[in-house]
Amino acid sequence: MIVAIDGPAGAGKSTVARLLAERLGFRYLDTGAMYRAVTLLALDRGVPLDDEPALAELAREHPVEFANGRVGIAGRDVTAAIRAPEIDRVVSQVARHPGVRRVMRARQRQLGGQGDAVVEGRDIGTVVLPEAEVKVYLVADPDVRARRRTADRPGLGPDALATDLRLRDERDAVNMERADDAEQIDTTELTVEQVVARIEALVRERQPGVTRR
Ligand code: DC
Repeated sequence: MIVAIDGPAGAGKSTVARLLAERLGFRYLDTGAMYRAVTLLALDRGVPLDDEPALAELAREHPVEFANGRVGIAGRDVTAAIRAPEIDRVVSQVARHPGVRRVMRARQRQLGGQGDAVVEGRDIGTVVLPEAEVKVYLVADPDVRARRRTADRPGLGPDALATDLRLRDERDAVNMERADDAEQIDTTELTVEQVVARIEALVRERQPGVTRR
């Protein structure tokens, strides 16, 4: 079974998806980490972020690797480096190129399609894995999203984070759409536990045999 979790930055996708995967004993795939890893590699190698063919080639040559909760690309562990505010600011510039998305989506289908998985991103339920049995679209109030990010990015003040989030939302909007058959959950007033419990209930409705760990 595939559980697709889409929605904007700061809506709670990663926290919820990771915990849900652990509870269900499913694999967890963070597709945003893949765009981040290619962005980091492009910056390291001096590839201009508007050079679509070069970026697509870079992504094709260096498949993002996931192992034991770590993210790697081109032989380097980039788990921490891809969460830097510098990457937050420019990753949408890389993710907007159709040539890059084609390479990433093919790899995401390959990684996500190997059995039970919770897959999080922006276009999972619509484009990457439209056959997902459970689709969830998480949203939250912009102030709450900025506040949640503050905890992840201690170096930045709340105003700078709110501005970064707003700009990223605008840039990401082209590739983000709620699937018609996705269940929208507003996480503004919910705890992580409540959101996970709701999605678990959806999973169980579709597949009553799934047991809790
Ligand atoms: O979820 P995140 O913040 O780690 O995602 C990083 C960027 O990658 C985000 O700005 C949008 C983009 N992205 C995308 O376009 N499609 C996805 N499936 C996942 C992320």
